[in-house]
Amino acid sequence: MATSPILKGEAFSKEKTAEIAQQFFRDGFVYIPGVLTEGEVTALREKSDELFADPQLAERTNPDLADVRYVQMGGHAESGESLPFILRNTIELDPIFRDMLLREPILSLAEAIVGENCKFCGQNVLRNLPGLSIDQWHVDGSVHFPVTDEMPRHDSRLRMPVMWFTVQMALNDIETIEEGPTQYVRGSHYSGRHPNDQDNPEFEGNKPASILCKAGDIYLQDPQCWHRGAPNFSGKTRYILQSQYAAYWAYWRFSLCNGVPVPEDVLQNGDDRLVSLLGRPRVSDLN
Ligand SMILES: [Fe+2]
Repeated sequence: MATSPILKGEAFSKEKTAEIAQQFFRDGFVYIPGVLTEGEVTALREKSDELFADPQLAERTNPDLADVRYVQMGGHAESGESLPFILRNTIELDPIFRDMLLREPILSLAEAIVGENCKFCGQNVLRNLPGLSIDQWHVDGSVHFPVTDEMPRHDSRLRMPVMWFTVQMALNDIETIEEGPTQYVRGSHYSGRHPNDQDNPEFEGNKPASILCKAGDIYLQDPQCWHRGAPNFSGKTRYILQSQYAAYWAYWRFSLCNGVPVPEDVLQNGDDRLVSLLGRPRVSDLN
């Protein structure tokens, strides 16, 4: 059997794991330097480039389908050609990506945040060629726990629930603001709101903080913390591998139940609305 370029790694001490989790719950993100080796980073980047270059994968661009590989964000290279930007569902594409799900200290951190027996809920590679980024401030999905207009924020004595979260792994150095670092507004997962300003978002005096990092550094992201990828104005390509982990209950409720078997003829000929409700692609989605 070929040896994986991905190491097993080692969990941090109990104390350090707990400290990182506390910081994550308080701030909405945590930066952890020096996790992956140069060998791992190079192997992941090379495999990603190989997959991005595959024309058959590039053909599949519908983000609503389970087997979507790329999302085109309307980005254009200097030639004006539209380019794939996000490689999705990477666990199917190469063992190197599956091995990353088990890599320590990442898995034990995931368990400290969303609980034991947590489940995979997404893995992507973002490759921002110069000029490409998701530079709108946003939370992922929707605001899970919105406040009313009269409420200034969620009570800081609460620990905001985390149903799932993202581990971001830098596959190249991102050392200046021009290179398009991820940015966060500290504590904004307590706002119960969408970002309050696209140019200068601010939460209780906290302004955007940039994650300036080296290849192999990782950072953990609460999807409710306001964030964006700053525009990449450098001549360099920016690579981020993202692994996402969910709480077990959420997997049971939202994923496993969508996989309960139903007869094939129901999927083929059933009411579109029913098939969609059961979490399966509708025939019309596949055409
Ligand atoms: Fe996001």
